[in-house]
Amino acid sequence: SSITLVFLIRSLAALKYFLSLSIPKYFLPNFLATTAVVPVPKKGSNIASPLLVVANIILCKRASGFWVECIFFRQPEQRGLGDAILCAERAIGGEDFVVSLADDYLIPEGETVVYNLLHAYKKNGQSQLSVMKIDGPEISNYGVVNPKPNSNNIQGIIEKPSFNEAPSNLATLGRYVLTADIFDMLRVSEPGFGGEIQLTDSINKLAQLGNVDMQVFKGERFDCGHVKGYLQANMQTAKNLGIID
Ligand code: G1P
Repeated sequence: SSITLVFLIRSLAALKYFLSLSIPKYFLPNFLATTAVVPVPKKGSNIASPLLVVANIILCKRASGFWVECIFFRQPEQRGLGDAILCAERAIGGEDFVVSLADDYLIPEGETVVYNLLHAYKKNGQSQLSVMKIDGPEISNYGVVNPKPNSNNIQGIIEKPSFNEAPSNLATLGRYVLTADIFDMLRVSEPGFGGEIQLTDSINKLAQLGNVDMQVFKGERFDCGHVKGYLQANMQTAKNLGIID
């Protein structure tokens, strides 16, 4: 079987991370993938075109070594993650798919996050989210799940709730396995948090039908959408590789 990976590149740092570290890890045995790449600069930056050019040249070169086909899309306007995924719909072709937000750099304790999500997905065919515990007001930077008691299933998810309104301390990371019916939700989605078409709002609709599970991430996470996180990710990787003490 094969599954499409939608890779959303939201900063040059994230692109560099993807190119240097993770391509082989994404393409698991039995999951030969097409990759739909959508550069999605964060609001306020305007680097979509250079990102597309750089991604096209370098990514194709690297990916060819792994027999991966890369298809590039452009998001004409910065209308949010949900809209970016709609831009890649033609490459996904009505199948379930994987989403990776490149600016989340994860060093898992065991297998990669995508590997674990795909394992869980293979068991029950449900959409799968990766979440990690975040205690304190930083929870408001993320999509936050409302878990069902004693279960991996979630009953809802809210994009960037205030600290007081957060339904739990479990925040989504930028890794998802999504079932194709998310497109039915995305196509009719109204702008949500920040005036953008939020992926979270459509996942919430699937969750209300009981169709979304979560897997708790164990390991380290770096936000490479910011210079500080990118530098920290490099330092940690260099330490892990024994390049620095
Ligand atoms: C996005 C998602 C959010 C998720 C986060 C993970 O937020 O909208 O639900 O928790 O990625 O990094 P953004 O980074 O665009 O603010």
